[in-house]
Amino acid sequence: MKTIAGFLSGITVLITTFMSCTNTATNTAPAAGISKQPFGEADGKPVDLYTLTNKNGVQLKISTYGGVVTSWVTPDKKGNKSSIVLGFDSLSGYFTPPPYFGAIIGRYGNRIANGKFKIGDSTYTLATNNGKNSLHGGKKGFDKVVWTAATVADSVPSLVLTYQAKDGEEGYPGNLDVKVTYTLTDDNELDIVYDATTDKATPVNLTNHSYFNLTGDHANTILDHQLMLTADYYTPVDSTLIPTGEIKAVKGTPFDFTTAHRIGERIDSVPGGYDHNFVLNRKDNALQKVAEVTDTLSGRKLEVFTTEPGIQFYSGNFLDGNIKDTQGKPFIKHSGLCLETQHYPNSPNEPKFPTTILQPGQKYHTETKYKVSW
Ligand code: GLA
Repeated sequence: MKTIAGFLSGITVLITTFMSCTNTATNTAPAAGISKQPFGEADGKPVDLYTLTNKNGVQLKISTYGGVVTSWVTPDKKGNKSSIVLGFDSLSGYFTPPPYFGAIIGRYGNRIANGKFKIGDSTYTLATNNGKNSLHGGKKGFDKVVWTAATVADSVPSLVLTYQAKDGEEGYPGNLDVKVTYTLTDDNELDIVYDATTDKATPVNLTNHSYFNLTGDHANTILDHQLMLTADYYTPVDSTLIPTGEIKAVKGTPFDFTTAHRIGERIDSVPGGYDHNFVLNRKDNALQKVAEVTDTLSGRKLEVFTTEPGIQFYSGNFLDGNIKDTQGKPFIKHSGLCLETQHYPNSPNEPKFPTTILQPGQKYHTETKYKVSW
């Protein structure tokens, strides 16, 4: 694995002065590259906001707080630019706890039942933050820490974020060195590579929690978006959203997205809305296309590629209008959808699920790409 020192050689950080930082871009084509601006302070540490721009003028903004993708501005079919992810244009928005908007999730994405698991003869007790369960890394997961950033000089802009989670942090064993590399390609893909190593056996399940709304306006819900998932099976859950352990066929159920369906079509027959792990059809763990979302209003399409065995399709059920953007516009129910590539929830307690335990000496390495077109 390359070290950060390796990345630091050949770094080009263009520190530019930004005119403004809003979710809606102007039509002037920005220069391709990477730049940063101060974004405030968290835990007594400065936080930066990086802007990655590709040759098509597509722009991604990423905060070192939580590794949050705060905005992803692309044109629509009419050439109008707007952000296709929910976010805030000030750091304080992220302190009012928004539900993980755009953030890196870890050490363990999704839920671990009762905040407990065993490795060998040792039982570990995690910080619980979702009823009796531990969700998305606990009380202060990777979405709420300040990451160290380095930029890579290459033909396309990359941002490398690193963080060391300490042995015992949120109850997890082992010092875990995590590296997340965000790249914006000229094919309008957000490529995310997750790497980690540990000094004690520990569960690891890293993902990104971006909420997409392809209309570019969160006054609209995502219920009219069409979704396709390459998943013949899903993992049913109990009332606390912990998988029951069953791997169930989607055929004949509202979970069958093997052909594209309007998200709103069958959502009323899913109590609470979609918030489920889908078991991706795969022969190996190569990067493969697993999801496609389309929106006729904007003409935008989002494709998801991953090396992971699962994907959490969450239809923004807990958004209720109480959280508002910086302009005061509420994030209404179903105003965003998440496609969190992952291992299955609660895997440390389900021996039949693919393992999430990383051993010392092993390298955790996964990749997910979100590709947008219009
Ligand atoms: C995940 C979970 C949901 C919810 C959201 C954040 O997607 O599966 O149940 O907790 O995060 O609100």
